[in-house]
Amino acid sequence: MSGRIPRQFIDELLVRVDIVDLIDSHVPLKKTGSNFVARCPFHTEKTPSFSVNRNRQMYHCFGCGVSGNAISFLMDYSHLGFVEAVEDLAAFVGVDVPREDGGESDEVVKESASHLYAVLEEVTAFYAEQLRGAEGQKAVEYLKGRGVTGEVARDFGLGYAPQGWDVLVSRFDRKALVDAGMLVVRDDGKVYDRFRGRLMFPIRDKRKRVIGFGGRVLDDSLPKYLNSPETPVFSKSKELYGLCELLQKKNRPERILVVEGYMDVIALAQYGVSNAVAALGTATSKTQIDLLFRFAAELVFCFDGDIAGRQAAWKATEAALPCLRDGRQIKIMLLPQGHDPDSLIRAEGVPGFLERINGANVLSDYFFESVGGSLDLSTIEGRSQLMTAARPQLEKVPSGFFKDMMWRRLNDMVGGGALEVPKNQSTLRPRFEKNVTTKVGQKRPSLLRRVLALLIQHPHLEHLVSQRDLEWGELSFSGKELLEDVLHVIALEKPENSAILLEAYRESSYEKAVKALAGMELDVPEGGEEAEFSGALTQLLRQSREDKLTELLAKEGREGLSIEEKQVLRMLLTQRI
Ligand code: UTP
Ligand code: MN
Repeated sequence: MSGRIPRQFIDELLVRVDIVDLIDSHVPLKKTGSNFVARCPFHTEKTPSFSVNRNRQMYHCFGCGVSGNAISFLMDYSHLGFVEAVEDLAAFVGVDVPREDGGESDEVVKESASHLYAVLEEVTAFYAEQLRGAEGQKAVEYLKGRGVTGEVARDFGLGYAPQGWDVLVSRFDRKALVDAGMLVVRDDGKVYDRFRGRLMFPIRDKRKRVIGFGGRVLDDSLPKYLNSPETPVFSKSKELYGLCELLQKKNRPERILVVEGYMDVIALAQYGVSNAVAALGTATSKTQIDLLFRFAAELVFCFDGDIAGRQAAWKATEAALPCLRDGRQIKIMLLPQGHDPDSLIRAEGVPGFLERINGANVLSDYFFESVGGSLDLSTIEGRSQLMTAARPQLEKVPSGFFKDMMWRRLNDMVGGGALEVPKNQSTLRPRFEKNVTTKVGQKRPSLLRRVLALLIQHPHLEHLVSQRDLEWGELSFSGKELLEDVLHVIALEKPENSAILLEAYRESSYEKAVKALAGMELDVPEGGEEAEFSGALTQLLRQSREDKLTELLAKEGREGLSIEEKQVLRMLLTQRI
């Protein structure tokens, strides 16, 4: 939709915002000493170990180890993508987000998009008002008849679209209504209201903005539901009904139920099961599954037990396979024939329903049952059919333990050894992630980590290093590359604070290490950083020189030195500090 956000703007934004105010608006903070603390929003705890530092513009939790700047906070706390977090932060500060290249057309798109959100919000309020009016009475009766109370109707912002062809068009901006999909445009250019005489379900994105509607008839006429068409702000394959409302109740649900209908979400909420979402009349997509996994590690898909339901379950399984990284779990629940979650929870009550969820099939079982359940695996034919069906599907699963185990199971099913497990995923060997933090800590962990942490937390200390005119070639200690890199980035970017430096490392291989060091507790008195840093650096350099000296002297005795090495040795001997 629009160009890149300029780096400079992001840095300026991080200077303008005060992370204490930002976090305080989400998680109330208490001042203790020079820090602000709260119970950590990212893990459960009784005593506060989440601390926010105003000078560094960073937060850190001593309990679970999370740390970051204002952007990371919004990404993690509000489950936003990077661009969304920058946009929210800009809104918090009260500035617009500029875009690189093609600025003008982007501005137009952006303006019309904010126009769409505005009109959709107005229409939502109007429909809700109509539900309480005289004509809306029959919709209220309908809801009552289905056991939906006023409270739940309010939570979901339900409304009523009155009969009439020009109800909206006579009240709101015509162009905005057309762009937002609220009107149907005829061939001759005339327009009329898309939704008439329907119970209205506003669909919100996870940032609480109304992006479209579903509308249900109040009788048996067809089509039962009408939905908003695709618009610049509404994409059926990316959004989920009920997600916004769910997140209002619980920011980090343990699991999310994925059901088929709007009314299922509403009915479950009516029974206090408020962690359900529904796709928007289409099959659940990979994008939607990935989106849900940002909020919960377990998803339970509920499908009707009929043929259509089984087909939908298989489609969802196929869409889910590429999303199944280690630590994520999907269960598939097939409901008894003729039931949907709405009717089932009414028939069996909450405990019965929850019991069924707990007893639902894990995806791996469901998968092998679906591909192999009807095959005769005692025959070569059956086993090869299983292979043909399962193999391309399993290839979609991201590498990891889950994938390994799925291959093993397939291997066992076809009689073991018959299957040559593809390379790279043959064993259950643990995988060691390349982790820079472990490298930093090898030789003299505390000293180097201290130097790095001081530097990352107070980037202005870089000038103390550049003053020294160091010959890096003569130094060797593990973690040197990271130190050099941090110095280089600081010299280049001149970050005003730690938060901005951290931003420069987003998505880089050093990000994890830099984040951890930024959150390290150093216990240096305020104003004492320079002295502390100088001291630690001197000590680090001295040790490194001595190591190098020892190494060269040993080599000289053993096999002799090259001309360059001799030069270094001479320098080290004269320069001993
Ligand atoms: P259902 O027919 O199961 O709807 O369709 P429901 O939500 O349970 O509604 P009730 O209980 O009959 O009132 C599941 C979903 O499929 C989409 C809607 O998103 C609906 O919630 N759908 C269904 C349509 O988009 N259009 C239709 O005509 C029917
Ligand atoms: Mn239903």
